[in-house]
Amino acid sequence: MRPAPARPPSTTFRWADTPARYGLISRGFHWLMAALLIWQFLIIGLWQGVGDTPWVRAVTALGPFHVTIGLYTITLVTLRAAWAAAMRHRRPPGAPGWQGRAARLIHGSLYALMFTIPALGLLRAYGSGKGQVQWDHQLIPATGIEIPWMISLADAVHGEASWLMAVLILGHTGVAVIHGLKRDGVLGRMAGR
Ligand code: HEM
Ligand code: HEM
Repeated sequence: MRPAPARPPSTTFRWADTPARYGLISRGFHWLMAALLIWQFLIIGLWQGVGDTPWVRAVTALGPFHVTIGLYTITLVTLRAAWAAAMRHRRPPGAPGWQGRAARLIHGSLYALMFTIPALGLLRAYGSGKGQVQWDHQLIPATGIEIPWMISLADAVHGEASWLMAVLILGHTGVAVIHGLKRDGVLGRMAGR
């Protein structure tokens, strides 16, 4: 019996990562979550900067709301971390020296924040005793019992950690743009063909 023909490398290449570039699954996670988080900060900025006006309501109704974005984020980041772990030996290598260490630190912090921030929101919802209804389901039970430490922990950290994440995202995007201007191929690993 003749052996089955080897898979053309391009098939694996498209979905999985290679040392030369991120594959479609990593890119899907990256750009979908980037869009979700940019939307999250845009709507928070509108609520806090402009307030509850009719046009702000109209704009924010165009996409998912605060808690829904958080639930998507915590679910997607869990799957994304598992995928990153599976791909860890195939991904594009980091830069040598302090630049590589800084990139690893920022990427790791972004993963941690993408998990911790919505988790704190959910903790607050549980601690409030009022529960959380989502997609017509009682996602978090309304116990009617307030747990003060959960509320104060979330109140102290949720917003601050979110603004830290916004700063890291701006820094990360700025560095990506600089790589793009230098045409050194780093931007292309996540955005190129
Ligand atoms: C991607 C995930 C999330 C991000 C980036 C985010 C970000 C933020 C930000 C920036 C604020 C305003 C804080 C301030 O005034 O300085 C806020 C407030 C709030 N968020 Fe979130 N949030 C997320 C997910 C969630 C989830 C999943 C819940 C609840 C289930 C939630 C519940 C709240 C509540 C109750 C407030 C008002 C109280 C407070 O300031 O702590 N958030 N969020
Ligand atoms: C529009 C803005 C953005 C641009 C232009 C951008 C660009 C890039 C590029 C070029 C890489 C590959 C870097 C390399 O190979 O060394 C990358 C990786 C990464 N980016 Fe972004 N990014 C953006 C937004 C975001 C956002 C909002 C987040 C999450 C909060 C994020 C999280 C990450 C992470 C964790 C990695 C490491 C690869 C991975 O584990 O998926 N990025 N980004």
